[in-house]
Amino acid sequence: MCGIIACAGVKCAAKLLYGGLEDLEYRGYDSAGISVLDKGNIVTVKRKGRVCELKPLVQKLCGSAGIGHTRWATHGKPSDANAHPHSSDRFSVVHNGIIENYAQLKGELAAEGAAFFSATDSEVVVRLLEKYYRGDLKEAVLCTVERLKGAFALCILCSEYEGFVAVRYRNPLIVGEGGGASYAASDMPALSGLCKNVAVLQDGTVAFAKGGEISFCDFKGRPLSLTFAPVPASVRTRGLCGFPHYMIKEINEIPAAVKNTVAAFEEQGCRQALARTAKRRGFSQVVLCGCGTAYNSALAATYGAEELLGIPVRAETAGEFRYRQTSAGAGTLFVAVSQSGETADTVEAARAAKKSGAYVAAVTNVPYSALTSVADIVIPVRAGTEVCVAATKSYCGQIAALALLFGALGGASQYKKAMRDACGAVAMCAKAISDCLSEDAARACASSSCVYFIGRGTDYPVALEGSLKLREVSYIPGEGYPAGELKHGTLALIDGSTLTVAVITQRELSEKVASAVEQICSRGGRAGVVCAEGCAPASLKGRVEFFMEVPACRGMLSPAVAVIPLQLLAYRTAVMLGRDPDKPRNLAKSVTVE
Ligand code: AGP
Repeated sequence: MCGIIACAGVKCAAKLLYGGLEDLEYRGYDSAGISVLDKGNIVTVKRKGRVCELKPLVQKLCGSAGIGHTRWATHGKPSDANAHPHSSDRFSVVHNGIIENYAQLKGELAAEGAAFFSATDSEVVVRLLEKYYRGDLKEAVLCTVERLKGAFALCILCSEYEGFVAVRYRNPLIVGEGGGASYAASDMPALSGLCKNVAVLQDGTVAFAKGGEISFCDFKGRPLSLTFAPVPASVRTRGLCGFPHYMIKEINEIPAAVKNTVAAFEEQGCRQALARTAKRRGFSQVVLCGCGTAYNSALAATYGAEELLGIPVRAETAGEFRYRQTSAGAGTLFVAVSQSGETADTVEAARAAKKSGAYVAAVTNVPYSALTSVADIVIPVRAGTEVCVAATKSYCGQIAALALLFGALGGASQYKKAMRDACGAVAMCAKAISDCLSEDAARACASSSCVYFIGRGTDYPVALEGSLKLREVSYIPGEGYPAGELKHGTLALIDGSTLTVAVITQRELSEKVASAVEQICSRGGRAGVVCAEGCAPASLKGRVEFFMEVPACRGMLSPAVAVIPLQLLAYRTAVMLGRDPDKPRNLAKSVTVE
């Protein structure tokens, strides 16, 4: 959801900012821009399109300080004019977030004679800075942020200040220092190659960076001191490593993601901490929350958990949970699942649950994210930095982390079993990756007008995830359904142009799902099957267009193995159709706005 970056005290700001924007591009890629401060003048280049559109424009830029932006449009369509930075003679601003009261501010400023050149909410920030500037940059910044409602991470250049200003409120921002220079960026991987030490800004912080010096204050101007720490090795990205896309690279990293997540759970003493808390608080229910893929992994984890714990366990989408009267209270274990730990709905849902007295666990891949600062306990997912917008390895890491979480709550023998299952799943994931080539399946998908995914039991959330993955990277419409539901309406849509993919890994339910496939085929629909070894119903042989087999994985890790052919299917279909699986249209990886 927009990536922002800034630097000061460097030799060539433009080159460095351009590199940083490439690292941040997964956050949005409909337009990009850079401003540099060159001998007291602000020079700006910006363009609709991907970051690479800026390449010819940045060659001639000089300057030792600058700011950059890669955009995911919220207010105002993708265009050169709406691209950031937004500038005046004296100021240039990049923004990630939404200024909710922008219309009111714009009206007020326009009435005072300010001119506007874009349809964005962000432009009000630069006009406010102009309005409040009386020769004192700090005063202008503080007066400006006081007027803003919503969520904002800002980086600001001022022609009269040889550095940059960074502001954080409800959108991520990290500052870094080293080698006589200062930096800021929306996330850590963009800084990892530039500096050794970083500090995560908290909400309500302003940073003034000049050369290698950074000072901090709160929104009232009171000084703050921040502790810098080395960039964790886990956030460094190593590029594509010979893979054509991050999506397939990250699918291949699934076994390591599961293995490292299991190791981190043990290392960080999560079992002991959860068991102690469960004993002390006596949970009466568990509510899991997340968005998109994270919701799908949360839903998958509910299967089996209720039987294991003997208390209600349910999953909800975070965007719904946060706006209704919740039944979360002191007896609730609230589990927020988020790869980025920055998804606005999930972070706010966790805040709401905490406010109502729940104990909050954050299952996240980003240890320094906003979600971790809300949570009472952090359950680490160690998938490593996930670059592709479509989540793959983080889903499997989440499944492993959640299985261990429920195992830990279930007592010593349940934990032992969860551990055994999670460790065993590592090799099964690797086998599924090497076995499921899925070329025929991808051809079948690519030639379909619509693809449905069906499953029963834990295969239902897997069907949801398979459908989400295919939709987001191939743009082929479709839906995931419990296998029994299709005939209650959607069967009316089945014809020869549609494909249904049945997920069958639960032996006791295999014949039921097979019947649903029969009903589809009998009405002229086409079908394919993803099944666990030994689960393939004999009746379907010869009836369906493809079979993909995964190792039989029982228990709560089953979705982590079963999802792999579906991820590969989505990837190969996207490539076959000439889509960019790493940066699907209209999407961004980190959804930090509502
Ligand atoms: C997954 O492929 C999607 N890009 C999206 O649904 C994602 O899972 C969702 O936005 C939640 O993100 P989070 O895990 O970072 O909170």
